[in-house]
This record gives sequence, structure tokens and C-alpha cells, in this order.
Amino acid sequence: MTIANSVLEMIGNTPMLKLNHFDTGPCELFVKMENQNPGGSIKDRIAVTMIDAAEKEGKIKPGGTIIEATAGNTGLGLGLVAAQKGYKLVLVIPDKMSPEKIRHIRAMGADVRITRSDVQKGHPEYYQDYAARLAREIPNSFYIDQFSNSNNPLTHETQTGPEILAQMEGKIDAMVVGVGSSGTVTGLGRFFKKHAPNCEMVLADPVGSILTEMVNNGRMTEAGSWLVEGIGEDFVPSICDLDLVHKAYAISDKEAFQLQRELLEKEGVMGGSSAGTLLAAAIKYCQEQTTPKRVVTFVCDTGNKYLSKSFNDAWLADQGLLSRELFGDLRDLIARPADTGDIVTVTSDDNLITTYKRMRMFDVSQLPVMDSGKVVGLIDESDILLGIYGHKENFNKKVSEVMVTDLDIVPPRADIDTILPLFKQDKIAIVADSDTFYGLITQIDLINHLRKTAI
Ligand SMILES: Cc1ncc(COP(=O)(O)O)c(C=O)c1O
Repeated sequence: MTIANSVLEMIGNTPMLKLNHFDTGPCELFVKMENQNPGGSIKDRIAVTMIDAAEKEGKIKPGGTIIEATAGNTGLGLGLVAAQKGYKLVLVIPDKMSPEKIRHIRAMGADVRITRSDVQKGHPEYYQDYAARLAREIPNSFYIDQFSNSNNPLTHETQTGPEILAQMEGKIDAMVVGVGSSGTVTGLGRFFKKHAPNCEMVLADPVGSILTEMVNNGRMTEAGSWLVEGIGEDFVPSICDLDLVHKAYAISDKEAFQLQRELLEKEGVMGGSSAGTLLAAAIKYCQEQTTPKRVVTFVCDTGNKYLSKSFNDAWLADQGLLSRELFGDLRDLIARPADTGDIVTVTSDDNLITTYKRMRMFDVSQLPVMDSGKVVGLIDESDILLGIYGHKENFNKKVSEVMVTDLDIVPPRADIDTILPLFKQDKIAIVADSDTFYGLITQIDLINHLRKTAI
């Protein structure tokens, strides 16, 4: 055990774990735990090398500004390095990325510009085009551009690859990777071609990304959309060498989020959503083999960054990714069904401070008031505000004194059109019948439902 002099020295040399609780056919499956890097992802590695190289090449001057387009993890890595070395950092991040990543990056002092995730390369608001424009506008700035920076694959060729081969004691038959900037696939592909030429490179790709078709059939297709973060592409980056890849698997979001959860439940490893994609592809590859093989994949980042998304059932349900029983009626629109324990409630006997704290904690603006399993009222932010305004001592008031009791109860079988007039009056729908309360439907729940059925 040694003492590090800088957090940057703690990047890399990540552990390798053998998985024991998945059906891997005749194969052994290992994961390299890149989530253990100080910034929480594999991208810490390239942040160090790309900045070091830019310094050596005179592309960054003291007091300068580093600019990058990033799905978040490269930004976190760059944030670590920029803070240690005294550079300013501006990051352009697409708006599908998890709020945890964005808060983390902002807390490191970076200037974060959120941009659209529904536009493609060539559009001025596409994150890479936006970053390139900023680099032209901001004096003494340097655009890292991980998608065409040769130090990105070089990092994996000279560091990650040798680490993996040493940990596997030279015995590795397949390496399963995702492609974001493609630094990992290109760098590891080059390394294994030289040092373990029988090791197959296998691509794990989200459904919607263009890369699976490129690898398997050499065909360029139109990109779709996907929710897994950090991997999948709508173009082929200039540093990407797909000739190094033997086979690709397209993995759906649903499968990825399911396996991300299983990785935590079965192996105790909290990885990001891409860990689910990589694990799903690795398991498929393993199960297809007829002879024993040693297969390695990555946990590219930590699941802590996804607590509000993949580890949040209400979010998964909003995205249509949770296997829930469907009823074909209004119950299917309820984000937090009463019988799942997911619903947040207060009793009429609770006080306003408790109600306020619960709303803040779960980021909701109204709560059903439940006594002995029955809805007896509804309380929202305006009820609390009017209850306490000018009388702060009223935070001790009971919910029963301010709650609304004139409730709009709709039976589950009611037509969807019957709830719209409620929203026009800024109300919410309480779905219940004579003896059962099912949950609430808010405006955002209806929007989510319409969005899901529109796709
Ligand atoms: C979260 C995340 N970021 C990035 C990558 C890929 O890295 P690269 O940009 O080197 O292609 C992966 C690969 O699985 C990943 O899971």
C-alpha cells in the first residue's frame, strides 16, 4: 500500500473481477472495473494523456481554456485534470445525460453548456459542432476532440491493453467493448493484434447505433435513438478502426437496463447503463461458444451517476422499460403505482414540514393524503405555501387543516379523454374505485404516455 501524491496518480490499474452468477455457457467472463477510477470512469485515462500531449505539443498554454464535447465521463476526467493543472474547462453536453453527471461536473468548476441530443452531426447544436464553434470563439482555447485525437486510442494501446493482458496472465480469447469515441476499441484492437492475435474484438452496441450493421454487414444505416449513455454512434469517428472488430451485437435499452440491475443484484457491482449493454453482448457471445474461452469486458463507469435514471423505477416506467403488468386502462399511466410501494404519501395527521421534506426528497409537487389505505385528500405546494405564508410557525400545522378534500376520483376504466379537463384546471387525477386506490396521474404522466404511444 502506497500513498499517492495526486488524485491523477490513482487513475488506471483498475481491478479485474471474475463473474460467477451469470450463465456464460462454456466460457469464463471477467470485468475490468473502470468504475474504480477517481472520476468514476474509463475516461479518466484519456483525460490525462490528451492534456499531457497537448501541453507537450504547445497546444495548451498556462491559463488556457480546454473545450470538449462529451457525454459526461470525459468531462469528469478532464475536470479532474484541469483542476489539478489550473486550466479553465468548458464542456458541451447533450441533454439526455444524467443530472448526476452534470452536477458532478459543475461541482468541479467546469462551465457546462447543455445542448440538444436530438440533432445529428452537421447541425450547429450537435454537441461536437457546438464545441468546435466555441473553440474558434474563445481565445487561448484548445478543443480536445476525443473523436479525432490520436492520443485517445494510444492510451488504451499503451496502458489499458497491457494491464488487461497482465491481469489475464496472457490468456484472453475475446474482449467485448462499446464504442463512444472509439478510443477503446481502436487502441485495444491494435494492442491485441500485436500481443494476443487470437483475441477476438467483439462490439457491444445499442440498438439504434449505426455500428453493428457496419461491422456485421459493412452497411451504413440511419441512426435511431437510445438511452444507454456513453456508447453507440451516429457516425464513424476518424480514429475508429472497425476492421479490428470481429463481430457486433445490437443490444436494446431494455436488455441493457435489466442487466445493469442484475450486475448489482448478483455480483454486487454498481455499473453504469453501458455496463448492461456490454454484459448482455458478452453473455450472448459466451453462450454461442462451443469451446471454453476467457472473455473480458468492462464496467466502464459507476452506477452512482444513474441513480435518478436506470436505478429509478419511475424513470424506467416513463421510458416504457419496466416490465410491468399492463391493464389496458388508466392504471397504465400511473408512474408510481400505490401497490408497488413506490408511491409517496402523507397522512392527515402529518405536519406541513414533513410534507414539504417528502416533496423535496422525491421531487414531486403534490402528495395524496392517505389514512388507513384510503385517499382522504390531496396536498400540493400551493396548499403548503398558503398555509405558512406570513406564519412560519404554521409549518407545524396538520395536513388535514390545509389539504384539498374535494377530490377528482376517476375509475381505472374511465376514458383517457375524461382526465384532460382536470389538467386544464391544473388538477390531477386520482385513480381509484370504491375500495382500492391505484395512484395519481399528473400532467407529466399523461405527456409521457402520449410520447410513448407516439413512438
Ligand atoms: C460509459 C462509457 N463511456 C465510453 C465508452 C467507450 O469509450 P470510447 O470513447 O473509448 O469508445 C464506454 C464503453 O463501453 C462506456 O461504457
